[in-house]
Parts: sequence; structure tokens; C-alpha cells
Amino acid sequence: MKEKILSALWEAGDYVSGEVLSRSLGVTRSAVWKQIGQLRNEGYQIASVPNKGYRLENDGNMFNVSKILENLPAETVGKKLIVLKSVDSTNNELKRLAAQGEPAGTVVAAQVQTAGKGRFGRVWQSDSGGLYFSVLLRPELPPADIASITLAAGYAVCLAVRKATGLDARIKWPNDIIIGSRKICGILTEMAAQSDRLDYVVTGIGINLNTESFPEELQKKATSLSQQAKRCMDKSLFFHEVLASLDRVLTSFLVSVSLEDREHFKALCATLGREVSVEKNGTTLHGTARDISPSGELLIDTAEHGIIAVSSGEVTVQGIY
Ligand code: BTN
Repeated sequence: MKEKILSALWEAGDYVSGEVLSRSLGVTRSAVWKQIGQLRNEGYQIASVPNKGYRLENDGNMFNVSKILENLPAETVGKKLIVLKSVDSTNNELKRLAAQGEPAGTVVAAQVQTAGKGRFGRVWQSDSGGLYFSVLLRPELPPADIASITLAAGYAVCLAVRKATGLDARIKWPNDIIIGSRKICGILTEMAAQSDRLDYVVTGIGINLNTESFPEELQKKATSLSQQAKRCMDKSLFFHEVLASLDRVLTSFLVSVSLEDREHFKALCATLGREVSVEKNGTTLHGTARDISPSGELLIDTAEHGIIAVSSGEVTVQGIY
């Protein structure tokens, strides 16, 4: 029952009367009161006001749906927003919905993920300090264009971080956003396709927003916006900025990428001009990252093979991680 009360308060994001809680749970109001006491003992800040009821206090790290949606253009991204307290992975949840016909533009976000996924089968640690969400698109594009959608999403997040914090966020090709030499955001795009056409694309984005500490192996590679900006970030306001930026960039991307965005993307790409190595067909190639092709490949100048185009795989950038 305690969990149900917590969920009801969390989802409402506002006062819920004791009467509504007791009716929806089929218990007495004093039973509700007892459970509220237990939740407070567990550390939850719950306000109670006569005639209004109970409210779970938002420490800035929780979603407030009306704040997120206020004045959001949502031409493509954010037409519908589903916010969950906990889920295995927002990508998995949105894929389940997509398979049942969920329309393009739906976004699923979660406070925590119990099985967050990263690229290359890695685990994406997802405690409540981070921002985790996925966007559903149904572009009429060939499957090969999926890589460019991910690049566009990363660019949009990078712009939002810069706007919200003033920090010098940059893109580590193809999918990471970094500050200095440390990662603050990763993107995992999954899709379902016919042979010549995408059925749907789910782009999952994980941002280290108010993450306070990282596991030992990530301590030199990762950072969070709160650590960099030296303040706690308001999750809902920040999420609004990110969705607005994704909406602008992805809506125009699905028509055609403007020259201005392409040039700005390159200017923000920390990989360009650096020494890189990349695993390709079982061998490691070394060279200098020179450019991004119109279809989003990294063009690397190698001693052995001249300019080669890399579309995926793990690229190691000297001086980053
Ligand atoms: C990476 O850098 O390896 C990609 C990380 C992607 C994490 C996000 S969090 C939201 C969405 N749900 C997942 O399970 N993964 C993505």
C-alpha cells in the first residue's frame, strides 16, 4: 500500500486528498495517515495541509509534467509524454508501445531504470539523479539513415546543454556529449525495419544531470551537469529545453538538414582534428579525424589507406576516453 500511495503522490505532482487516497486504495484515512508516516520515516518529504491533503515535495530532481510541457512546440517530439516512476528501460517500454501502433512523437521518460542499456550491450546505471527518456519516430527513410538520426539527436542535446548551462558541451562522434574530456550523455538508437524502409526508430537518451557519484571505472570518464555547473539542475526545466531542441532539430532533419546546422555540428564536434583509432574488420586503424560526410560518417585520414569513412564501431579519441 505504501508503494501505491507513493506512486499516486508522485504521479499527481501536487496535493492529493486523504479521502481520494483512501477511496482509491480501499482503506481508511487513518491507514493512509499511518503509511504517510512510514514514508516520512524513510526520508520522503511529504507535506500535509488541512483540506488539501498530501504532497510529495519535489527537490528539483523529479518530473513536473506541466512544467515540462509548458509552451513546448511539440511539432514532432513530445506530442505525447509518458512519465514513469520506474521501468526496465525507456527504450524497451517505447518499443513495446511502438509495436502496438503508438504514433510518432511519443516520449517515454522514467525517474529510474532497472535495466538501462548502453551501446555494445553495456549497462547504463540509472539511479534517480539522471534524466532517462526515449523518443519514438516513424520517418519515411531507408534503414541506413538511422545513424544520421542519432547524430541529429546528439547535436540537439548538445545545443540544449549549452543553452541551459552555458557550459562548453561538445559532441564526441557519433553519440556522446562531453564536457572537457568527460561524458555527460549517451544515446542508444534502436529500430524496426522492412528491407528498404524504417518502421520505427526509438532514440534513447541518458543524461548525467544531478548524478553525484560514479562507479570507480567511470570516475575519470564521466561527469554530470550538476558537478560541472556547480548547482542542482531542475530536471523538468532542463527536460523542457532538451525536448524543444530535439523537436526543432529533428523536425527540420526529417525534411532536410540546413547548411547552418551541419556547419554548427562540425564546429561542436570534439573528435575532428584529433588523432583517433578505430576497430574495423578485426584490425585497428589509426589516423586523424578530418571531417563528417553528408551521411554522417567520420572521415579519417590514415597513413595506410588514405581517407577512410567510418559509419559505426568504437572510435577511441586521443585525449578524450
Ligand atoms: C551509451 O552511451 O552507451 C548509450 C546510453 C543510452 C542510455 C539511454 S537512457 C534512456 C534509454 N533507455 C535505455 O535503456 N538506454 C537509453
